[in-house]
Amino acid sequence: MTANGQNLHPSQDPLHDARARLLGQRGGVVWMSGLSGSGKTTIATAAAARLVDEGRLAFVLDGDRLRSGLNRDLGFDAAARDENIRRAAEVAATVRDAGVLVIASFITPYRRQRKTVRDRLGGGPFLQVFVDAPLDVCRDRDPKGLYAKAAAGDIPDFTGLEDPFEPPTTSDLVLDTASHDATACVDLLHALLDERGFLSNEDVG
Ligand code: ADX
Repeated sequence: MTANGQNLHPSQDPLHDARARLLGQRGGVVWMSGLSGSGKTTIATAAAARLVDEGRLAFVLDGDRLRSGLNRDLGFDAAARDENIRRAAEVAATVRDAGVLVIASFITPYRRQRKTVRDRLGGGPFLQVFVDAPLDVCRDRDPKGLYAKAAAGDIPDFTGLEDPFEPPTTSDLVLDTASHDATACVDLLHALLDERGFLSNEDVG
């Protein structure tokens, strides 16, 4: 940490280039937001698997993982969700600094949170992806049975029902999971990573 409390910029980190050579890559963050049941984790997991299969170090960071550990003191009121996302962005930045391709999967329901994320991460390799599916589709899928529980009154403030999901308007990529299957979405994401230079190791040395 520098005196003003900011993380070292990669150019000030004496091991940054050596680590990039060791790994044969530089780090990056793909931040996926979307409703519960929109397909974020499915796409994140499959995209990371493809990257690892290609010999790249990729890692999925998701809400369930963070909320069961680092963020287990946080609930789902607006302030707690803001803090959840702030911490998640810090973890993503730290793991990116270590040279890893991070695929972060968080509902990130409020516009101001997505700005927080972009402000924190946008100075380095970073993509914001909106995993988009209509609420009705997510509710029908209900992979974790949470929409049913929420409808029965067992989960207060559930996103999309009692708590808002403000649709992103400035994403780098929108993945419509109602009309594209997971493989097609992973192909689109992978193509964008390639186009934006995330997969190039030319300058790694
Ligand atoms: S966020 O709103 O703070 O970005 P996050 O992605 O970390 O949410 O966690 C979402 C996960 O928490 C959901 O997939 C679901 O498993 C669980 N969850 C529990 N309560 C709620 C709630 N009230 N609203 C949304 N998700 C909830």
